[in-house]
Amino acid sequence: MTAQIIDGKALAEELRQGFKARVEALTAKGHKPGLVVILVGADPASEVYVRNKVNGCLAIGMHSEKITYDAAVNPEIVLKKIAELNADPNIHGILVQLPLPRHFDEEAVLEAIAAEKDVDGFHAENVGALAQGNPRFIPCTPYGVMKMFEKGNVDLTGKEAVVIGRSNIVGKPMALLLINAGATVTVCNSRTKDLKFHTRRADILVAAVGKPKFVTGDMVKPGAVVIDVGINRLPDGKLCGDVDFASCLEVAGQITPVPGGVGPMTITMLLANTIEAAERKAALAD
Ligand code: GUN
Repeated sequence: MTAQIIDGKALAEELRQGFKARVEALTAKGHKPGLVVILVGADPASEVYVRNKVNGCLAIGMHSEKITYDAAVNPEIVLKKIAELNADPNIHGILVQLPLPRHFDEEAVLEAIAAEKDVDGFHAENVGALAQGNPRFIPCTPYGVMKMFEKGNVDLTGKEAVVIGRSNIVGKPMALLLINAGATVTVCNSRTKDLKFHTRRADILVAAVGKPKFVTGDMVKPGAVVIDVGINRLPDGKLCGDVDFASCLEVAGQITPVPGGVGPMTITMLLANTIEAAERKAALAD
């Protein structure tokens, strides 16, 4: 059996087209959605992500700007800028690209962002709301994965879902969303004793490991939905995911490719969250 491919690029484009009318309506009422992306340091991968985020906003008529700091910047300067942006009525979303240099207290930076502008969904208040099953901002990557399930008509109720990876950015919020959707959820990590035992039971398998081609076909239950969150650069410069696409394609029921899978959906859901933030603000102002 060859798996059906879930086309994240096409779904992302479809959703972004749909956002344009909402952006226009907000702009007409004087609430043009605005996102600021803060980048500290010059990590090449982060620079690409940040550029794509800003360009994604501009392409659908939103306002967006990038603020960059030298890697050695005093964290107080970044915190001061966040406080300014929190008070700026034209800015609806603030995103600090992670990871930050080691001399930063990452948690303190994320907590400094006003919860109503935290379009990443990383502020403790937003994490708590998600954990309680009443989310305000859903972290963009797992939110994008949920949209892919929706598009692929994947019913999650009562399914065995296995998430590999327990990061705050993907693994944990992904697990919470799957729990909220009624799946039976297992979260694996690098210390998990018998990973294959878990993955082979999974109707839904989400790989957020950060290791190229880590999940191979023999680890997948026939007919499973396999979601590849990884973006790894191989020595030859090509991108590949955490899933060995060729071997899993023959076993899975549905699978996401890399590139063209989860990646484009992450930025799409960042746009969605920023528009949502602007709509909430506009509703309060009306
Ligand atoms: N670094 C990798 N993924 C993300 C993300 O979704 N948001 C932020 N802020 N940083 C990241």
